[in-house]
Amino acid sequence: MNRTVIVTGASNGIGKAVAKAFATNYYNVVIADLDSENGNLLQDELLSEGRQAQFIYCDVSDPKSIHKLVKETINRYQRIDVLINNAGISEFIRPDEMSVEKWDQILNTNLRASFLLTREAAPYLKKNKKGSIVNIASTRALMSEKYTEAYAASKGGLLALTHSQAVSYSVDNITVNCISPGWIHTGDYDKLRDIDHKQHPSKRVGKPEDIARACLFLTDPENDFINGENLVIDGGMTRKMIYEH
Ligand SMILES: NC(=O)c1ccc[n+]([C@@H]2O[C@H](COP(=O)([O-])OP(=O)(O)OC[C@H]3O[C@@H](n4cnc5c(N)ncnc54)[C@H](O)[C@@H]3O)[C@@H](O)[C@H]2O)c1
Repeated sequence: MNRTVIVTGASNGIGKAVAKAFATNYYNVVIADLDSENGNLLQDELLSEGRQAQFIYCDVSDPKSIHKLVKETINRYQRIDVLINNAGISEFIRPDEMSVEKWDQILNTNLRASFLLTREAAPYLKKNKKGSIVNIASTRALMSEKYTEAYAASKGGLLALTHSQAVSYSVDNITVNCISPGWIHTGDYDKLRDIDHKQHPSKRVGKPEDIARACLFLTDPENDFINGENLVIDGGMTRKMIYEH
């Protein structure tokens, strides 16, 4: 029976590329998102290519919706092997203008959701002996521009959540790792400027497929010696010193 992956935030951007990569690698792919229009389009595109895919509506900031997502996935495919906690929102707001409601919305979507979905799905991953989970964080867990408190805190939280989960779920043979993407362009790549590319030690801006390939690598059962790790994929930007001369 094919392995099954749930990818949250898979209707667009990075999650969409991750969903396509797993589908191409013969997974049953659950596209979990609140964007039904693009989620259904992706489902139909993958089905027309002979792949296995199912869009399931889910608002990851809502615990009931997470519970429903796991239930519907099991009804549809009877198993879960891999979970990619990718859905996220980013809003840059001055600290003095940040409402409690907005703070909670960003933290609940980016951080609490990964805790809840992992907790809900883990019993099923455990059944298949070699489960793996990837949390998508950000290099903003490690460094900042102005007015990114909620987003940075949510992504920093994901790094800590990841190593904690790796230790807790080791009894169930589930590995938990984290990817911290840098600048991954999800729009028109051709519209990027020279300076956008050249400032990166790798001489280019990232693409969603850069993250998708790393998700496949980290969740390959052969790679279960990689555990609790944070893989930074940013073309070298966080390794570059920025003192001005
Ligand atoms: N693109 C980048 O440069 C970059 C860099 C670092 C980290 N990231 C992280 O990667 C992940 C994907 O980013 P992206 O650039 O593809 O974003 P995106 O906005 O293109 O896609 C995010 C997807 O998540 C979905 N989503 C948002 N809130 C949701 C919710 N409550 N429930 C379910 N789905 C929800 C959206 O509908 C959308 O389909 C995010 O966690 C983001 O923080 C992105």
